[in-house]
Amino acid sequence: MCGIIGYIGKRQAAAILLDGLKRLEYRGYDSAGIATISDKLHMKKDKGKIEEIDRRLNFADMPGTIGIGHTRWATHGEPSQKNAHPHIDNAGKIAVVHNGIIENYEHLRHFLRSNGYSFYSDTDTEVVPNLINYFMRQGHDFEEAVRSTVSRLKGSYALGIVSLDEPDKLIAVRKESPLIIGLGVDEMFIASDVPAVLPYTKRVIVMEDGEMAIVTSVKAIIKRVDSGEIVERKPLEITWTIEMAEKRGYPHFMLKEIHEQPDAVRETLRAAQKELDGLCDMLLNAKRIYLVACGTAYHAALIGKYALAQLAGMSTEVVISSEFQESCMADEGTVLLAISQSGETADTLKAVRVAKANGAKIACLTNVVGSSITRESDLVCHTYAGPEIGVAATKTFSAQVAYLLSLAIRLAEKRSLKSKKELNELAIQLHKIPETILDTLQIVEPKVKDIARRHKDATNFFFIGRGIGYPIAMEGALKLKEIAYIHSEATPAGELKHGPLALIQRGVPVVAVVVPGASYSRMLSNVEEVGARGGEVIALAVEGDVEVGKHVTELIQIPKTHELFTPLTYILPLQLLAYFISVERGLDPDRPRHLAKSVTVE
Ligand code: G6P
Repeated sequence: MCGIIGYIGKRQAAAILLDGLKRLEYRGYDSAGIATISDKLHMKKDKGKIEEIDRRLNFADMPGTIGIGHTRWATHGEPSQKNAHPHIDNAGKIAVVHNGIIENYEHLRHFLRSNGYSFYSDTDTEVVPNLINYFMRQGHDFEEAVRSTVSRLKGSYALGIVSLDEPDKLIAVRKESPLIIGLGVDEMFIASDVPAVLPYTKRVIVMEDGEMAIVTSVKAIIKRVDSGEIVERKPLEITWTIEMAEKRGYPHFMLKEIHEQPDAVRETLRAAQKELDGLCDMLLNAKRIYLVACGTAYHAALIGKYALAQLAGMSTEVVISSEFQESCMADEGTVLLAISQSGETADTLKAVRVAKANGAKIACLTNVVGSSITRESDLVCHTYAGPEIGVAATKTFSAQVAYLLSLAIRLAEKRSLKSKKELNELAIQLHKIPETILDTLQIVEPKVKDIARRHKDATNFFFIGRGIGYPIAMEGALKLKEIAYIHSEATPAGELKHGPLALIQRGVPVVAVVVPGASYSRMLSNVEEVGARGGEVIALAVEGDVEVGKHVTELIQIPKTHELFTPLTYILPLQLLAYFISVERGLDPDRPRHLAKSVTVE
């Protein structure tokens, strides 16, 4: 997704902007560019990977100590040089980078055209520098012209803007797209998110909707766009170290993040204890509960559904965010718990807004403090997985699952449905789960690496599971298609006979997620069923399970845990399987084609 970086200070802006762009790469992009100001406005941009563009255009020779940069993920207009950001006004004095969508850009283009302006790209963004130019020509100074422009924009936007006429300031504007200000010493930054500025400062201000910031090298003044009123906001001290946002010796972010799961779960469980009562009260007073999410977060939500039903006797409906508005009913008695790693996913934000407009109460569970979803929610809960750079979510999935399991236990306590002793034991086991995750990783990694080598050329993969094993299978299949580009399909094992079995023949790999509990023996029958048709079963089962081993080609043994906690251990070999197959196939697991970490368009 589009990323913004801006710099003003004493150093050469282009070098810092280039570094910032590289740190934004994980958001997904198709083009990149930089504009700086010295005695004139300089701009270089193109489509492609940042390193290639830099090799071709050499950003390093751009003079100036103020500038803006952008990574673009096309929404209006195909990826191309002319559509890449920054965009400039007709006079070549104002440069703008933008993340989001300007919905009324056609109307604004028409207005500007009738005032003599021309357009050179297919983007919605190009109206912005020209409208600023229009207002400056009417006698407004830079700041006033930006304010007048922004008040005419409809849609969502984070903007970074510089002007040759006032080269001592950088203006940032935010509405529904993330933007932070990094506070340095005699230098300031703006960025779409924290990792982009971490090498330079740990003090950041998170901008809120409807705000603009006038940033010089020594201060950042935040104002409400509508009233011009100054907003005082204390900076946050970011505790993430630079190392946390880097690979720490792992070849890929994804592998590093897989190995960070014990910490991500431990931190989340610790922090959750303080937040859970508020969320429990909200849910216990609800007539209807929706869990809404996309992608991996949706699978975490499905696991949450099982846990809430089995432990707390509570019924919830899990809905994919983009389907919410067509298929769901929300009213004053509804609680919607939105789960989103980034807190910026447009479909999830939309579902939240639809439910809210109908009177529902909103709670969110997000990994990003200060993200958009937190501003839309009546109650904010956090996972503490740390920054996740790999596009395919791994540690944030486990953190979400851990949070939801903790929630289910707390709700069960409040509803007194199970004995205190049983719940205490579960709580103790859950708090020990980070060690079990660590053990599991050590046990399964060499085995999975080996299996990956043998199955790297498969063209289809099936994943089957029952009960809580089914969402685990779904997440395993998603990982494999995301990063290894192998068609993979998850199906409830009981549904095999209603269709998928027709596709099982000699050599087709079928990953069977065999969890302990009530579904175990039925699952075993399904494993046999697949084996009898020649399918190559790769089974995940609890250590010491001799039965499963009799019917499968590969057996991955997982340390024993309570059935409801199996998502936190069983998911590990599945993440690793996708990772190693991706690497075996010569792909980049951190940056899968066509996918973005944070999808901020519907
Ligand atoms: C994208 C990412 C996935 C993620 C999904 C939901 O598709 O590639 O990894 O699960 O968005 O993102 P969210 O930030 O809302 O959890």
